[in-house]
Amino acid sequence: MEQTYVMVKPDGVQRGLIGEVISRIEKKGLKIAALRMNIISEATAKEHYSEHAERPFFPSLIEYITSAPSVSMVVVGKDAVRVMRNVNGATNPVEAAPGTIRGDFALDIGRNIVHASDSPEAAAREIAIHFKDSEIADYSRIDEVCIYE
Ligand code: RTP
Ligand code: MG
Repeated sequence: MEQTYVMVKPDGVQRGLIGEVISRIEKKGLKIAALRMNIISEATAKEHYSEHAERPFFPSLIEYITSAPSVSMVVVGKDAVRVMRNVNGATNPVEAAPGTIRGDFALDIGRNIVHASDSPEAAAREIAIHFKDSEIADYSRIDEVCIYE
């Protein structure tokens, strides 16, 4: 099983899409192992998006992601990193396929509703930024016998 870090960004929270995002994750068969709503601090946001520190959109990205509550999750399952990237859709909602979260609900790259780690290494790094080990629940879902062969 693989872990990934998922965030419903401030635009997703403000638009009442927390439940929609969580519902898609659950229905896919992925398991939520940690969940929290908070307003991310500037320091945490800069650490989270450190790979983009030199990009022109970095200041506005940090200002936006810290402007209002977001929802953070640890999501677990087979190939969870790649699966969550596909559930979210392409970064630019204009390119995101219908049926993906960004394809169904977003129009602007700076307001694309969700984040998910882009590699297992990034997932480990991001989970450690946002959660303590003790906040991540280790459990089985009873439907796993139906989801996995
Ligand atoms: P995320 O990290 O948020 O899941 O998105 P991503 O991997 O699909 O895209 P990434 O390249 O990591 O970019 C992070 C976020 O920065 C904003 N962005 N704006 N104006 C721009 O050209 C631009 N490029 C990226 C997006 O909100 C993107 O999700
Ligand atoms: Mg990214």
